[in-house]
Amino acid sequence: GTAVPAYSGGLDTSCILVWLKEQGYDVIAYLVSRALEKRQTLKSSGWAPLGWGFRFSAKRQKIAIFASSRAAVSICPDGARSNRSSREANIGQNENFEEARKKALALGARKVYIEDVSREFVEEFIWLAVQANALYEDRYLLGTSLARPCIARKQVEIAQKEGAQFVSHGATGKGNDQVRFELTCYALCPQIKIIAPWRMPEFYNRFRGRNDLMDYAKKHGIPVPVTPKSPWSMDENLMHISYEAGILENPKNQAPPGLYTKTKDPATSPDTPDILEIEFRKGVPVKVTNTKDGATRQSSLELFVYLNEIAGKHGVGRIDIVENRFIGMKSRVCVLTRSACIDGIVSVGRCGIATERQPQSMNKLYPSRLLYSGITASPLGGSYSLNYTSIGIYETPAGTILYHAHLDIEAFTMDREVRKIKQGLALKFSELVYNGFWYSPECDYVRHCISKSQEMVEGKVCVSAFKGQVYILGRESPRSLYNEELVSMNVQGDYEPSDATGFININSLRLDFHSPLYLGMEVK
Ligand code: ARG
Ligand code: SIN
Repeated sequence: GTAVPAYSGGLDTSCILVWLKEQGYDVIAYLVSRALEKRQTLKSSGWAPLGWGFRFSAKRQKIAIFASSRAAVSICPDGARSNRSSREANIGQNENFEEARKKALALGARKVYIEDVSREFVEEFIWLAVQANALYEDRYLLGTSLARPCIARKQVEIAQKEGAQFVSHGATGKGNDQVRFELTCYALCPQIKIIAPWRMPEFYNRFRGRNDLMDYAKKHGIPVPVTPKSPWSMDENLMHISYEAGILENPKNQAPPGLYTKTKDPATSPDTPDILEIEFRKGVPVKVTNTKDGATRQSSLELFVYLNEIAGKHGVGRIDIVENRFIGMKSRVCVLTRSACIDGIVSVGRCGIATERQPQSMNKLYPSRLLYSGITASPLGGSYSLNYTSIGIYETPAGTILYHAHLDIEAFTMDREVRKIKQGLALKFSELVYNGFWYSPECDYVRHCISKSQEMVEGKVCVSAFKGQVYILGRESPRSLYNEELVSMNVQGDYEPSDATGFININSLRLDFHSPLYLGMEVK
C-alpha cells in the first residue's frame, strides 16, 4: 500500500523512509515547512559535542562533571531514541525545504508534500490556547502538544487525497507525541493504519542507536549528517522549542550557556524595555503596537512572529520544568542505579529510575489501539509507584507575553462566576491537549464553552517586556466590568456602604459555630 510518513530530512526520518520502501510501501513524504520566521540562533560557545560523548571547555567544569556521571546517555538505546525523538514535521522551522524535497525523492519517495501550516497553527490552535489561558501542570504552555494535532491533521488530509491507507511517524514509543499523533489520526480517519517504527521490534531491534542508523544510511545512500549531534534533543515550532534528554536528563543539571535559541539571556538583554500595546477581540490578539517605534502588526501570523521577536530579545519565556507524561505509570518500575541500564530492556529516565521499556511491555498488554486507554492510573502493585515524568527546558516567547496579557484583559472584562467555571474548563482543556485529545467530543465541548466565554473579552493591554519578565502596565476596554466610580475611595457611587454590615453579618453566621475551636475550647 501507500504510506505517508512525516519526514524532516534528518537522519531518523530518512532511514524510516527508506525502511518503508524496503518493506514494500509506496512512499509519499510529508514535510511541514515554514520559512517566514527569522530564527535567531545563539552560538553555543564552549560546546563541542562529540557524537554521543561530550567534550567541554575548561570553563564548563561543573557541567563536565555532571555529564561524565551520565555515561548512560551514550550506552542507552532509549536515550538515543529520545535524542532522535520526532524532529520531523515541525511547524515554523527554518530549513532548506527544497533540499529536503530532492533528498526524499532521491531516497525513493514517489511524491513529496511540503506544507506550510503555520497560519492555521496560530489561528486554530495557538489562539484557542491563549483564550483558554491553557497551562499544563501550572507551567507548560503546551507548545509541542498544540502542534501535533495540526501536523497530523494535514498528514491525514494528504493520505486521504492520495488514497493512502498508511501514515507513519518517527515518535518514540514512550512519549506523548505518539499518542497525540495517533489519536488525531484515528479521530479524523478511523480506518487509517499507523506505522510507528519505534514501537515495532523489527525496527527498533535493528536500529538500536545512532550508529545503526548511520550504518544503514551509508549502506542506502542516505546522506549522513556532518554536524555532530547536539548533547540534547530539540523540538521546535513557531510557538516554542524544547530541549530534553542527553545531558539534560539529570534533573540537577542546569541549562548550559548557549542552549537557548529563541530567547536572549535576561542578564545581558537590553536595559530598556519594549512597551507593547496588545489589542484583543473575543479573547484573541488582533493588533500589537510597539510604543517605542510605533511598529504595528495586525495579521495573526505576523503578530505572533513579532511577539516572538520582542519577547526573545528580552529573554521572556524560558522555563525548566518537570511534568507528568500521559503515558503514566509503568506496568513495572524499579529503582536501579544508573549503571544498571541494560541495553534494549531498561532505560534510564532523568531521575535515575529505570523503567521497563514501553514498546515491548505495552504491546503485549494492550494490542493496537487499546494501548492508550486507562494506562495512566495503572497501579504498580510493587513497592514503588512512580510517575513517568518528562523533564525539559522550554522557550515560549510570544506565548508567554500573550498568556499574561490575556489573563489581564479577561479578568477586566469577564464576570467572576463565569471566570471560575472557565478556569476549571481551562484546566481540563490543557489536560486534553496535552494528552492528545484535541479531536474528541469532550474537547469540542470544552472549546465551545471557552469560546463562548470570550465574547466580551475585548480591549487593550499595555505590557512591558524586560529582563525575562512580562509586566502589565495598564489596560482599557469598552467592555470593562470595572466601575471606577463604584470602587473609588473618594466617590460614593451607586453603593450603600451600610449594606455591607448586613453582608458581613450574614457571612459570619456560619463562622460563629467554629469560634470555640479557634479559641481552643471544645465544641459541644
Ligand atoms: N514534554 C513536552 C510535551 O510532551 C514537550 C516535548 C517536546 N519533545 C518532543 N520530542 N516532542 O509536550
Ligand atoms: C516523544 O514523544 O517522543 C518524547 C517527548 C515527550 O513525549 O515528551
